[in-house]
Amino acid sequence: MDFEKFCQENCVERKGTGTLKWDSLQEIFGDADLLPLWVADMEIQSPKAVRDALIKRVNHGVFGYGRVEDSYYDAFFAWQKEHHGMDLAKENVRFATGVVGSLYAAVRSYTKEGDSVIICSPVYYPFYDAILNAGRKLVTCELDNHEGYYTLDLAKFEKEIADNDVKMFILCSPHNPVSRVWTEEELAGMFDICKKHGVLVLSDEIHQDFAYGDHKFISSSIVKGGAYKDILILLNAGSKTFNLAGLIHSHVIIFNEDLMKTYDEYIKSIGCPEANVMGLTALEAAYRGGAEWLENVKALICHNYEYMVKEFAEKCPKIVVTPLEGTYLSWIDLRGYMPGDQVADFIQKKCRLACDVGEWFSFTGHGFVRFNLATDTKNIKTAVERVIQNIQA
Ligand SMILES: Cc1ncc(COP(=O)(O)O)c(C=O)c1O
Repeated sequence: MDFEKFCQENCVERKGTGTLKWDSLQEIFGDADLLPLWVADMEIQSPKAVRDALIKRVNHGVFGYGRVEDSYYDAFFAWQKEHHGMDLAKENVRFATGVVGSLYAAVRSYTKEGDSVIICSPVYYPFYDAILNAGRKLVTCELDNHEGYYTLDLAKFEKEIADNDVKMFILCSPHNPVSRVWTEEELAGMFDICKKHGVLVLSDEIHQDFAYGDHKFISSSIVKGGAYKDILILLNAGSKTFNLAGLIHSHVIIFNEDLMKTYDEYIKSIGCPEANVMGLTALEAAYRGGAEWLENVKALICHNYEYMVKEFAEKCPKIVVTPLEGTYLSWIDLRGYMPGDQVADFIQKKCRLACDVGEWFSFTGHGFVRFNLATDTKNIKTAVERVIQNIQA
């Protein structure tokens, strides 16, 4: 694949178009003049099929209340079946305006104030907020870092659950930021412990479509033939897959009837909105016509990753880059060159990059930065050059 050509044809200037990533740098980082590699969205235009469907919808010109048509379910279910071996039915699905909102809703639906909720850090930082903002007790189980490759120590996980009388586990699968695509054995190990201790599993699978090479994403719902469906609340969306995050449209999937009833009652009590018509239009089109686009984008992500790894290995070999198994986010350890507590300043003030930094993901995460690889290769080249030059300076 000609990556330069792909970027020229598919990547666009976003600055000045009302973006969180490019236009909020002053508010978030206190400096508008940084190259942003933070927020997990892309500079790559969504598939043409999506843009055409949205244009058609816009040209119709009426944006009254919508409803979810059978054709949407057909496209959604076919994608989940073909790509992930999942069997879904309408009664298992609810719609939401984003996965983060559903994390908040699920924590509040299934636990009460003071209950303990466990997460495996370093992990996507809104997990912390969903627990703490609801007045629940945060329990963290730090993943083990084997020179950049992360695993979960099940004995430690079980001890935290038992000691803290944990009621819910928020799983990130694939795991942002450490890029793990959990194997079926690893997931079954976690879920056996959850089942034994009466812990519900809230499985955030928003990165489901980004697994590379031999790594195969296994939805929590199909682990051991669906053996853990009864303790699951599963969240997914097309927002990462097809770069649609601004359309705030996502899915909540629940198989256990009692759990669904509890969820419905909670949502009714807070008067949540119906599905967004633009989100429905875009995602149906993406599921039907976006597969080839996705393959190209994944190839570009791998290309950007390989470029970065090669450059660092040659010029700054003490940088440890976590192996890219899943997501489009790369987790980079700079502690070989400076104390961990200097890395955030180094990356922003010296390298002039806006990145999510380790301490956002874990209380002990100092020393790491996360690069978003789903961008024009020229941005990755600039970022890598700046890191190398400033380390060598
Ligand atoms: C693990 C995870 N969950 C949820 C989200 C955001 O979901 P949404 O935009 O649907 O709220 C992200 C975005 O990066 C993420 O990485």
